[in-house]
Amino acid sequence: ACGSGGGQGGQGGGDDTIVLGFSQVGAESGWRTANTESIKAAADEAGIELKFSDAQQQQENQIQAIRSFIQQDVDVIAFSPVVESGWDTVLAEARTAGIPVVLTDRAVETGQEDVYETFLGSDFVEEGRNAGRYVVEEFADSDEDVNIVELQGTTGSAPAIDRKEGFAEIIGEDDKFEIIASQDGDFTRAGGQEVMQAFLGSHDDIDVLYAHNDDMALGAIESIEAAGLKPGEDIKIVSVDGIKAAFQAMAEGKINQVVECNPLIGPQLMDLVEKVHAGEEVPERVEVEEGVFGQDQAEEELPNRQY
Ligand code: AHR
Repeated sequence: ACGSGGGQGGQGGGDDTIVLGFSQVGAESGWRTANTESIKAAADEAGIELKFSDAQQQQENQIQAIRSFIQQDVDVIAFSPVVESGWDTVLAEARTAGIPVVLTDRAVETGQEDVYETFLGSDFVEEGRNAGRYVVEEFADSDEDVNIVELQGTTGSAPAIDRKEGFAEIIGEDDKFEIIASQDGDFTRAGGQEVMQAFLGSHDDIDVLYAHNDDMALGAIESIEAAGLKPGEDIKIVSVDGIKAAFQAMAEGKINQVVECNPLIGPQLMDLVEKVHAGEEVPERVEVEEGVFGQDQAEEELPNRQY
């Protein structure tokens, strides 16, 4: 295990029930809503008392929530950090209080060792690479330059940093690919719509849109259509998450490729929480398995989508 924060921290509810304090990022996307539901349902199922707090995409709210969990002496703290850095102080506080911390979905950047027990989440760099692989394949036969615009997730968040990096690594192998604009759309539909509108205002030669999540892609589709262009044809679109609405758009030909990021990690999280609480050994990193889907699979997959 990566941590030594103590397996048996906190008094919790005073009986055998594990009390888990969970600080969620917010409710910015369809992915997040599904993630929250999965966590609440899994806690219920496992008989874990969940103290749930929504940070509304603000790091200071998350720090406040974690401090309040420490004050309440919960058994375990879990959180999905809105941004990567700036957690050292509050993580040290949890450690001093002897309360083990589990990271879920997003990682932290820290110079300290042993400040959390385990991290459960996706490989965001690989997701970015998969998006890049789609673009490389789609334009394999083209000798012309390929102009790409990128809608980034929340600045400073692990998925925005990693998805950008993985994508750049793959398209960087051929200099015909160029990212002509890249901006933060905050993982929201409104953000995607607004930023894409601005991109379209300043560029009339966009070949590809790479959106760090489906909600931003769906917002961008509105702007592309409003500009009289056909999403999926005039501008190829690849995005990350795999929410139902994106599969619907893909079945309609408006999105070309969806890279899955699985939010349904509640049961795995509760399993880790129980183990950490019992002082059992847990792996430092637990990865979530996910796939990649193209237009030809959209219709068939649509009824199977759980989120
Ligand atoms: O951290 C996961 C990302 O956060 C999802 O891809 C995005 O939709 C969400 O807001």
